[in-house]
Amino acid sequence: MPSYPAEPFRIKVVEPIRSLDRAQRLAAMRTAGYNVFGLRSDDIYVDLLTDSGTGAMSDRQWAAMMLGDESYAGARSFYRLKEAIGSIFGFRHFVPTHQGRAAENILAKVLIQPGQFIPSNTHFDTTEGNILDRGGRPTNLAIPEAAEASNPHPFKGNMDLARLEAFIERVGAKAIPLGMMTVTNNGVGGQPVSLENLRQVSAIYRRHGIPFFLDACRYAENAFFIQQREPGCDKLTVREIARQMFALADGATMSAKKDAIVNMGGFLAMNDDDLFQKACNELILREGFPTYGGLSGRDLDALAVGLYEGLDEAYLAYQVGQTAYLAQRLLDFGVPVIQPPGGHAVYIDAGAFLPHIGRDEYPGQALAVELYLEGGVRSVELGSVAFARKDEHSGEMVYPLMELVRLALPRRTYTQAHLDFVAETMGRIAARKTEIRGYRITYQPRLMRHFTARFEPL
Ligand code: F0G
Repeated sequence: MPSYPAEPFRIKVVEPIRSLDRAQRLAAMRTAGYNVFGLRSDDIYVDLLTDSGTGAMSDRQWAAMMLGDESYAGARSFYRLKEAIGSIFGFRHFVPTHQGRAAENILAKVLIQPGQFIPSNTHFDTTEGNILDRGGRPTNLAIPEAAEASNPHPFKGNMDLARLEAFIERVGAKAIPLGMMTVTNNGVGGQPVSLENLRQVSAIYRRHGIPFFLDACRYAENAFFIQQREPGCDKLTVREIARQMFALADGATMSAKKDAIVNMGGFLAMNDDDLFQKACNELILREGFPTYGGLSGRDLDALAVGLYEGLDEAYLAYQVGQTAYLAQRLLDFGVPVIQPPGGHAVYIDAGAFLPHIGRDEYPGQALAVELYLEGGVRSVELGSVAFARKDEHSGEMVYPLMELVRLALPRRTYTQAHLDFVAETMGRIAARKTEIRGYRITYQPRLMRHFTARFEPL
């Protein structure tokens, strides 16, 4: 058995969960249209749908919430958050937002004109959706190793620098209002980006005068991987590495529901004064006054404390260690997972696991449904259901690199026994996987279909 990292905390509050029987689970799944997003949380035993907003806050975060200042303007809570963001990220300005996609929406609104291109290593679906919604053209340029599930490359989240150069050359820097990088790279398996790659990307964007924004929601995990894996970085603290990462960029979007361990919150940070002014104007229209931006004062305080806790190296070693443990247990059952395991989640290569189900019959969806039916475990498909789309310009289908199912680990939430239960559930599925059939979509919206699509088994 792989070794399990001992928790750097003890449990003070508990939340009961229960397990339904198989017939009840089947009924719940049918009602949900075979989409895990349609399930009621009461009907789930272990919920690995996402690590976003699902972590356990600490006693200090809860205590900080009591200090929340709910003033409409100029609240003390805002200034405490400003201090935390200033000292960790180092950008000159920020606006709070209710979550990451709200920051993306504002950034897209103020910077993107129809027809313009926005390159990244891999855009997350909300980022892609926000860019598309403003008529922009999101472009993913991850290194080729990102598509090789078992390739042990330590920084599979990296940007392909040659492709980025060629891309800018081809479309012209004037058609690129901003360039992005997602750290860690969720779309290819929660894989980190190296500091060296960030330096190079930053140099390329800067040489072409393209503003550079980090999608920073899992920046602390990324910095931890840099410390563990990148030559010459082992003597730096995670916080020092994070500071170096942000110094390479002109701004960041942040979903604080990840590495700041809050249930809700985010922000958009930047250096440029004019951009900040425009962002404030947008914020007032859509989110709220710039000192609260769609959040309560207490949320700002929990976020300020959570930002520091998310950088704690004992906590990061535990979180990353938990992910590695689950990945190894799945491998021991013969389940192919992306290697090395990412920071916040284990990604099962459903395309390789269920080779008898073609991409157009959604192997990831089939596996996510099966995991629930077998053990009440909720995962999420991150393959063609989530990411395949018809390019509006060429009319061609654009497929994601892989057909994945993600088991995301809510922070400080589940124990070793829960993870063993998940691995053993997958082990039983592996033993009878040839019986599993694909799915057909019976309903889908225009953008971001995986949240609300409905399916039928084939
Ligand atoms: N960027 C990345 C890389 C993300 O993973 C997410 C959210 C967002 C932006 C948007 O943030 O949800 O606060 O609006 N990811 C969640 C997930 C939903 O499950 O991976 P948000």
